[in-house]
Amino acid sequence: MDHFDRIWVNVHLATMTPDATERGEIRDGALAVRDGRIAWIGRRADLPDMPVMEVHDGAGAWLLPGLIDCHTHAVFAGDRCGEFEERLEGVPYVDIARRGGGIRRTVEATRAADLEALVALARPRLARLLAEGVTTVEIKSGYGLETQAELRMLRAARALQRAADMSVVTSFLGAHAFPVDLPRADYVDLVCGPMLDAVAAEGLADAVDGFCEGIAFSPAETERVFQAARAKGLPVKLHADQLSDTGGAALAARFGALSCDHLEYTSEAGVRAMAEAGTVAVVLPGAFYMLREKQLPPIDLFRRHGVPMAVATDANPGSSPMLSPLLAMNMACILFGLTPYEALQGMTVYAARALGLEKDRGTLEVGKRADLTLWRISRPAELCYWLGFGDRLLVERVVAGRPSAATRRGLG
Ligand code: NIG
Ligand code: FE
Repeated sequence: MDHFDRIWVNVHLATMTPDATERGEIRDGALAVRDGRIAWIGRRADLPDMPVMEVHDGAGAWLLPGLIDCHTHAVFAGDRCGEFEERLEGVPYVDIARRGGGIRRTVEATRAADLEALVALARPRLARLLAEGVTTVEIKSGYGLETQAELRMLRAARALQRAADMSVVTSFLGAHAFPVDLPRADYVDLVCGPMLDAVAAEGLADAVDGFCEGIAFSPAETERVFQAARAKGLPVKLHADQLSDTGGAALAARFGALSCDHLEYTSEAGVRAMAEAGTVAVVLPGAFYMLREKQLPPIDLFRRHGVPMAVATDANPGSSPMLSPLLAMNMACILFGLTPYEALQGMTVYAARALGLEKDRGTLEVGKRADLTLWRISRPAELCYWLGFGDRLLVERVVAGRPSAATRRGLG
């Protein structure tokens, strides 16, 4: 190595490496980037003497990995504000779903939208995530529930990857609900057969997701979807045990799931199965909050069994119309009892693991992709502290080693 492309000096670093002592904090540190990757990291005093093309003075700001929102439904049309009102008038979420509302309402609106409309609707949502430091976002299908509409959602997500200044990871969620226009068994056949074939043929999905619940896919139906995913060589993940304990977490763990998400009703046996499989627990406090749930996910069991926890927005028009990763971290702390450090790990290192990307991003380590965020804060916990001030804390966002013009505010 004979030069660095860029270095950041006059910064404190929070590396988020899982085995770090002192929470991975390096005061008065420096970080160097070359060819889009982190080339050196450490104390500024130890920075090797090397030609540098660009020096960034962080003026005492904190440098963290870019945030990763590992569970969103950011591509959709319409809204469900009417159902929000109904729920506040006392109608439960499951009752709304059973009489054809809920996910199916968003399916109607999403089927009616073309590719350009889906992209245009999602763009400002991603812009909000970006303004609060997100550099990688996962986006699911699941509001099409017919082949062409599912493909369109995933194509929209891929198009957003090209247009937005962030990485987009996709999940095929055909197994999100049942459409009104097909018998149940036929729809399971469609999802596991022609629909998944078409998705895989176009390389549109990085993983296969499902919703295993009384109002959605049964465990047996979910298992069929996972078998079909396995046959295509695609990793799986699951909306599991959100509203009741269906044994979803244990089922997904048997398939080596990358993550199980929601998990309010997961039993200790489910947690143990996740621990054995190395499955990440993605907690989604936005949905818990919006649905005014009472049952908390078993955070202490995750800790005791060594199940890593990720935190995500679950951005969607029904259960979690939330586009603030920092608010998600705050809620994970206040509602679920995570420490601020756990919440930060949940949006960096363990969110990367939930997407199968832990070798490539999620921490500040030499060789990893240089997705970085620079924050004007007194300590990392401050990112979990303010309500609605996140975009003012973000000084700079760096994607694959390149400072992003969209959020550059000028340092010092
Ligand atoms: O993650 N739980 C299932 N799916 C979404 C909600 C979808 C919706 O209500 O539109 C979730 O909460
Ligand atoms: Fe979800």
